[in-house]
Amino acid sequence: MSYTILDSIKHSDQKSLIEEMALDVLIGFSQSEKRLSSKYFYDDKGSEIFSKIMESEDYYPTRSEFEIFENNQEKISSFFHDQDDINIIELGAGDGKKTKVLLRYFLEQNRSFDYHPIDISEQAIIDLTASLNKELPKLNVHGVVGQYFPSLNWINNNKHGRNFIFFLGSNIGNFDLPQARVFLRTLWSCLNDGDLVLIGFDLKKDINKLLWAYNDRGGLTAEFNINLLRRLNRDLGANFKVENFQHFGTYNPLKGSMESYLISLDDQTVEIEALKKSFNFKAFEPIHLEYSYKYLPKDIQGLANDTGFKIMDNLFDSNKYFVDSVWSVVKN
Ligand code: AVJ
Repeated sequence: MSYTILDSIKHSDQKSLIEEMALDVLIGFSQSEKRLSSKYFYDDKGSEIFSKIMESEDYYPTRSEFEIFENNQEKISSFFHDQDDINIIELGAGDGKKTKVLLRYFLEQNRSFDYHPIDISEQAIIDLTASLNKELPKLNVHGVVGQYFPSLNWINNNKHGRNFIFFLGSNIGNFDLPQARVFLRTLWSCLNDGDLVLIGFDLKKDINKLLWAYNDRGGLTAEFNINLLRRLNRDLGANFKVENFQHFGTYNPLKGSMESYLISLDDQTVEIEALKKSFNFKAFEPIHLEYSYKYLPKDIQGLANDTGFKIMDNLFDSNKYFVDSVWSVVKN
């Protein structure tokens, strides 16, 4: 099994990662409106809960994108030309379940390509590589453990050929519009003219559908959010009593985003050993955890124009809940 761990990750020991998280928590809890960053959801337990969310009946985005891939294999493969050597690069590959549909098809078509999943979690890359070696033994897979852009630069420095970037699952929804612009422009600057990107956007829709997806009947989303407090207890020596907090998922129609909060059910004080500090939570005080922005097709057009891309196609599911938008990099 071969994959690369970027030096920046290798040398950032467990201690400094925890210090970084502690600092983020200190900043977030020192605001008058308390917040925690959704990037800390994905420890081993959090990733496991998120996999269950993706399989749940109420969380429609994963199923919608799966349908798009199953129905558009040929179309997606037609975006790259036969003579090209292709690097399929997936940002935040996770378990790669949806991507496998396409990888299998490309192999059947005898397309010449390598697959480069990027993930911050070494375990995710190890598991994905192992399962791909088993399920698709002919696939050339070389994963990179690292942050998105350093990993992308590593691939660029070590490989030639045309790049096809996958950024799936509406991961882009965690960014607000300015952050999304910065992200996409940074991506653009790492790519060459004619390279392709495929980005999954969750679309604006009946608000009740959204509310169910982020307040699922199995209580998985609540568990996912509460897990963040458990993580702070474990990694930062905090003493949150998790039963004193309640998950609240709501739609903000002004921002066009789903928002997740944990609500303190009582006046309570929590100590965080790593910060040698305690924090007070008033009864019914919220902690903001996550934004999941929803898009209109015309917002997506605007985003592509603003950041130097041309839309090649928009692939919708049959309900029009979700779109995978295929863009081409425009330089000069
Ligand atoms: C992984 C960011 C796409 O926003 O829908 C799922 C995370 N949060 N349920 C999303 C999530 C609550 C998910 N993303």
